[in-house]
Amino acid sequence: MPAAVIIGAQWGDEGKGKATDLLAGRIDYVVKFNGGNNAGHTVVIGDEKYALHLLPSGILTDGVTPVIANGVVIDIEVLFGELEALSARGVDVSKLLISANAHVITHYHRTLDKVTERFLGKRQIGTTGRGIGPTYADKINRVGIRIQDLFDENILRQKVEAALDQKNHLLVKVFNRRAISVDEIVDDLLSYAERLRPMVADTALVLHEALERGETVLFEGGQATMLDVDHGTYPFVTSSNATAGGAATGSGIGPNRIDRVIGIVKAYTTRVGAGPFPTELFDESGEFLRKTGFEFGTTTGRPRRCGWYDAPIARYTARINGVTDFVMTKLDVLTGLERIPVCVAYDVDGQRFDELPVSQSDFHHATPIYEEFPGWSEDISGARSFEDLPKNAQDYVLAIEAMSGARISAIGVGPGRDAIVVRHDLLD
Ligand code: IMP
Repeated sequence: MPAAVIIGAQWGDEGKGKATDLLAGRIDYVVKFNGGNNAGHTVVIGDEKYALHLLPSGILTDGVTPVIANGVVIDIEVLFGELEALSARGVDVSKLLISANAHVITHYHRTLDKVTERFLGKRQIGTTGRGIGPTYADKINRVGIRIQDLFDENILRQKVEAALDQKNHLLVKVFNRRAISVDEIVDDLLSYAERLRPMVADTALVLHEALERGETVLFEGGQATMLDVDHGTYPFVTSSNATAGGAATGSGIGPNRIDRVIGIVKAYTTRVGAGPFPTELFDESGEFLRKTGFEFGTTTGRPRRCGWYDAPIARYTARINGVTDFVMTKLDVLTGLERIPVCVAYDVDGQRFDELPVSQSDFHHATPIYEEFPGWSEDISGARSFEDLPKNAQDYVLAIEAMSGARISAIGVGPGRDAIVVRHDLLD
């Protein structure tokens, strides 16, 4: 069983960390292939709660080699901050490998992210403000700074000069901010070079060799399908490929290496930031989901927008990623509801859409067509087999499975590491 990808099936925050955790002990490498410190994995181990933004959650598992691959954008200060915090709690972080080709988030990327959002006014994306978009934009524009540039001061200086030539015009003349000096950026980046050096590797080669040896590699997608720059609700998306295909380009392994794609889907839906969200609730049901599910951003602390499960989105995700298994998280949050609506299709100006409308304008004013399922009131957090779940909870899962385009192989029933019902082996 060589390579598996974990991806978010909705708009992020589905609880991917828990699924990674479920596979602990069977994984040799865990790879972050997209995004940066805009992500937020919360992993609960015993009484300890770990919130990771940049590091892959597999870093918490003994024996696993964590890899930050070429598709990631790295804020080096945040990287060292997280490494130090984990070390202080006794986590061994010495195995971390970082791609020489990963791009670096600098001070000017963070500044541009924030001022661009401010200028967009009510058209803003609601980014995390971490500099993600501007860093990927520089990568595509071929004016980015890569990790390997930190080991050649001359090259680094030339690249920062070229980038700031443009950026300072923008910052000063358009955004009315102060210019940023080349020295400030170069000195800052160089100050990390020696600490970084031992971690930097040709990670594509490392992963290739691991796969050749028959070792198991888990690719952990940041963000989610509906935030993918190509397949999400553009422009209300992140700036990377958060879908399964991104695991190949974002790490340098061949796509035919991947044989399991695990989609993480919440038993309801949440979203942070702006953009269309057909099942969003503005009433006390939304408040119930937010409170009970503790739906506040791991990275920004923002309250998440909450709504019912959206089956056309799950089907879309299953198709775009080639999902082999879904892990449904947070089923316990629905406990106590009398009836649970599930979106089965959309209505757009009187026309029924069973699948996502291709036009973003249609999707913006799609209203959900719901089917309702009876709820349950029993505490399900102790359930460890499907049969332990109340009949109505089983029926809810089975109904959703039939609509969602792939089997639901595991079900999260509480925040703890072991609060999960496994129906099928995710790697088999
Ligand atoms: P950016 O990734 O900071 O550029 O933000 C773009 C959009 O993606 C915004 O709507 C963010 O709220 C959203 N986003 C980015 N990372 C995450 C995440 O890990 N979970 C949920 N939403 C995210």
